[in-house]
Amino acid sequence: MDHVVLTGDRPTGPLHLGHYFGTLANRVALQDSHTMYVLIADYQVITDRDLPGEIQRNITELLLDYLAIGLDPARVTIFQHSAVPELNQLLLPFLSLVSVAELQRNPTVKDEIAHSSQQAVSGLMFTYPVHQAADILFCKGTLVPVGKDQLPHVEVARLVARRFNERYGPVFPVPEAMMGVRPLLKGLDGGKMSKSRGNAVHLSATEDETAALIRKARTDAERLITYDEERRPEVANLLTLGGLCLGRSPESIAEEIGDGGAAALKRLVTEAVNEFLRPIRKRRREHTEADVRQVLREGNERARERAIVILDEVRAAMGF
Ligand code: TRP
Repeated sequence: MDHVVLTGDRPTGPLHLGHYFGTLANRVALQDSHTMYVLIADYQVITDRDLPGEIQRNITELLLDYLAIGLDPARVTIFQHSAVPELNQLLLPFLSLVSVAELQRNPTVKDEIAHSSQQAVSGLMFTYPVHQAADILFCKGTLVPVGKDQLPHVEVARLVARRFNERYGPVFPVPEAMMGVRPLLKGLDGGKMSKSRGNAVHLSATEDETAALIRKARTDAERLITYDEERRPEVANLLTLGGLCLGRSPESIAEEIGDGGAAALKRLVTEAVNEFLRPIRKRRREHTEADVRQVLREGNERARERAIVILDEVRAAMGF
C-alpha cells in the first residue's frame, strides 16, 4: 500500500542509538517507497518545561542528525511546527472531539507528569497529544513509525480521525502506528535511555566520547560473559547494543567473549559502535549549518502547501 508516513522528534537534544534502532532506521528504509514527512516538533518542547531553551541550536543539530543517518531532503519533507500555522489551527476543531476525561487517562502524559520537575502541570501537557494528532493528520498521514511510549498518542490521532469523519463526513484516513522490530535498548546506567540522563551514545558523539561512555557502563563482577536478561540486565544490554551494531545475536557475542570479563565486553562493544557510527559521522561532517537551514526552509514551504489544502477541506467539511 502507498503510505503517507509522518513522524517527528522534539528538538530537546541530540538523537542517540536508542532512537536509531527504535525508529530512525525505519524512516530511512521507508523514504524510498513512501511519501514521508519528518516533523521537528518545536512547539512540543514547551510541554514539560517553561522555556524552549537553546531551540535554534537544537534544531540545527537535529537536522544534522537526520542528514547524517541518510534521510534525503529531496524525498522527505522535513519541517517544524512553528512554521506551519495551518497545522496548528487544526488543534481547535480537534480539541472539540475529545473529552477531558480522555485527555486525563493518557498513560504517556501521566508518566511525563510524574517525572516532570515543573511546579504546575500546564494545559498544554494535557492537550499536546491532540496537537500531535494534528501533526499526523495535517498531511493525511497513514503510517506513524514510533517507539512504544508514543502508542497512546497514535491512538488519540485515530480517535480524532474517526470522530471527525463521523461528525463531518470522510476527510481523514485512520493512521496506524509502526513499531521498531528491534529490542529495546536501555541506557548504559541500566535506566531508560534518555537524551537528558547522560546514559546514551549520541549519534554525534566522537570516538573518544563513545569509548569513555561505554567504559563507564555498569556491568557485574562475573568473568564469564553470558546473555541473561533477567539476572544480568546491564551485561545483556551491552551485548544487545553490540549485536545491533554488528548485525549479530547478543548470544553469539557473549560466546565469543567467553571468560574475557567486562573489560573485553566493553572493548568489543566500543569497537562495534564506533565502526557502526563511522559513516554516520562522515555524512554529518559533509553538511554545513547553512545547508541545513536551506533544507528546513524548503521543507517548511512544502509542508505548508499541504497544510493549506487540508485545512481548507476541514473548514469546508465543517461548513465554515
Ligand atoms: N512526541 C514525540 C516524541 O516525544 C514527537 C512527536 C511530535 C511525534 N509529533 C509527532 C512523533 C507526530 C510522531 C508523530 O518523541
